[in-house]
Amino acid sequence: MRIRGAPAIGILGAYGMALGALKIEAESRDEFLARLREINQTLAGTRPTARNLFLAIDRMQQVAEAGKNIKQIKESLINQAIKIHAEEAEATTKLAQLGAGLIEDGFTILTHCNTGALATAGYGTALGVIKQAKEQGKNIKVLATETRPLLQGARLTTWELKKANIPFTLITDSMAGYFMRRGEVDCVIVGADRIAANGYTANKIGTYSLAVLANAHGVPFYVAAPTTTIDLSLHSGYQIPIEERSPEEVTHIQGVSITAEGTPAANPAFDITPSQYITAIITERGIIKEPYVERLRKITAGA
Ligand code: MRU
Repeated sequence: MRIRGAPAIGILGAYGMALGALKIEAESRDEFLARLREINQTLAGTRPTARNLFLAIDRMQQVAEAGKNIKQIKESLINQAIKIHAEEAEATTKLAQLGAGLIEDGFTILTHCNTGALATAGYGTALGVIKQAKEQGKNIKVLATETRPLLQGARLTTWELKKANIPFTLITDSMAGYFMRRGEVDCVIVGADRIAANGYTANKIGTYSLAVLANAHGVPFYVAAPTTTIDLSLHSGYQIPIEERSPEEVTHIQGVSITAEGTPAANPAFDITPSQYITAIITERGIIKEPYVERLRKITAGA
């Protein structure tokens, strides 16, 4: 969790493969590639949900398998990692620019988890859209959820919003409905860890509840993600693997127990939001709406 957020995890995977490759001392190309496959598997085993990780390490593996000799493979892996990093940076900057068009002057935007510079290659996905709207001179406010259990919203998003000089209020996750019913939320924007072919989206636990609430109150609900987060190999979002994390993250806050000893706790790190609750998906290649099945296919073609 030192490096987290789907785009940042993808970049970590790419550099992890390149750095791992540099350390391999092998007698032959075949031995080198076998050792690299082990590194690939180790990285693949770190976190199961974010699509960006698997896309990046598969791309790195393909580059390696196409290489002629060990020296050349090592060089091309470094170049490829730098390329993946640059592409992710460009994608989030672009999607932020496109998404900012959905934000009107005077909007209060609710966001969940952390999706800014600390989660991406630099600019951010959902938080990138918010930052871009501010840079365009729009007068906006943010409601940031604390994001239990690891508090990415409270710890990281508030820090980024403060740095960007954007007015914000921190709320607990369970306060979202209260503010929506009072008409104090103009839209919700979240990031994504994986978007299946049917538009169903995996994102930080609590996203699904926010989407249902937004739908009940007629509040637009946007997902902002680069196309590297889209996984057309899964036709349904319910096929996305959901990371189960330690119960201790729920029973303890920053190492301090808040429960009776031995309290059982569940800790799924992500949930799935069905596409009918998603007003639009903002990507670097355009903003898409239902029907997601054909539009996601179209937008990723040739990617
Ligand atoms: O468990 P995390 O902190 O890696 O989860 C992060 C999220 O769920 C983000 O919303 C998602 O990765 C999009 S980040 C731009």
